[in-house]
Amino acid sequence: EKGNYRHFMQKEIFEQPVVVAQTLQSYLRPVEGQVALPDPDFDLSQIKRVTIVACGTSYYAGMVARYWIERFARVPVEIEAASEYRYREPVMEEGGLSLFISQSGETADTLAALRHARAGGQKIAVVVNVPTSSMAREADLLLPTHAGPEIGVASTKAFTCQLAVLAAFATHIARVKGQLTQQEEQDIVRHLAEAPAALNAALAFNDTIENVATAIAPARDVLYIGRGPDYPLAMEGALKLKEISYIHAEGYAAGEMKHGPIALIDDKVPIIVLAPSGPLFEKTVSNMQEMQARGGKVILISDEKGIQEAGDNCLATLTMPKVHPLIAPIVYAIPVQLLAYHVAVIKGTDVDQPRNLAKSVTVE
Ligand code: F6R
Repeated sequence: EKGNYRHFMQKEIFEQPVVVAQTLQSYLRPVEGQVALPDPDFDLSQIKRVTIVACGTSYYAGMVARYWIERFARVPVEIEAASEYRYREPVMEEGGLSLFISQSGETADTLAALRHARAGGQKIAVVVNVPTSSMAREADLLLPTHAGPEIGVASTKAFTCQLAVLAAFATHIARVKGQLTQQEEQDIVRHLAEAPAALNAALAFNDTIENVATAIAPARDVLYIGRGPDYPLAMEGALKLKEISYIHAEGYAAGEMKHGPIALIDDKVPIIVLAPSGPLFEKTVSNMQEMQARGGKVILISDEKGIQEAGDNCLATLTMPKVHPLIAPIVYAIPVQLLAYHVAVIKGTDVDQPRNLAKSVTVE
């Protein structure tokens, strides 16, 4: 039931602090300052490579996870869209772990890729929201998200719950690989435990985001840019907007803009810049300024410090809570989801059932 909400998608966006907390609860031991994963029947410390395979929004969650796994665990990670993975004859070596991410657990391409990886001798880990799904049943290591049923076709709460699980997973591999001190693990756990409150703080900007949406709604094209783990968020933001508002949107790595797409920039293309303060802030802002110099209309999403430093010539700014860079991709999901939601409402589209889309894609 939708309760007081107008759409399931809206309800699911607002559920995120609760469902992310629920999900984290089964992966974190805050008192001990440790992550806790179910024990697989194979030795995770022997894993030599992680291959992440998924589709759509789940694929973008995987892209964020690649940063975390490589950074914390120093294990090489590759990631591919499931529809491409199987057909390029991927090399599968001993010690390979294949990680499949899916809300439904039934996406045909992802399921077929899972079976292909198993046939190739890979260990199979699955991050999935439907515990009775095919993928859940076929996992060697099952990592459930506890987002509850997601009704809106555009995925929102499943995504942030996937990120929560993936952060715990990255931390766990890092520990079993001997790459983390106790103190470092405690710090990660503390930052993750702060995510639900930060999601709440981000949701408090709903009305401001609704205002910004009026500036986006008339656009024909919208660009989203970010760097590092916020680059997949740019793509996720663009996907959300395309899906439910039918506005053409692209997500780009901020540094790639000058290699082509900057030619598109004029004062009719809004650019959403995802730039939490942190190690990548200055570089992202310098890319943003290159676009402003060409007439680009920027909507800067950052924290107070970032907006103070770089918000001056922007069309609009959205102030997010100051968070550790680790959880920024979880928190910055909120403004991109809400922006797409409000634009779609303004445009009068069918938010929960966008044209041409199905909740679960069970054909390849
Ligand atoms: C986007 C969206 C889709 C799904 C994709 C994979 O909002 O919902 O891109 O993320 O179809 O679905 P799952 O995660 O069920 O495998």
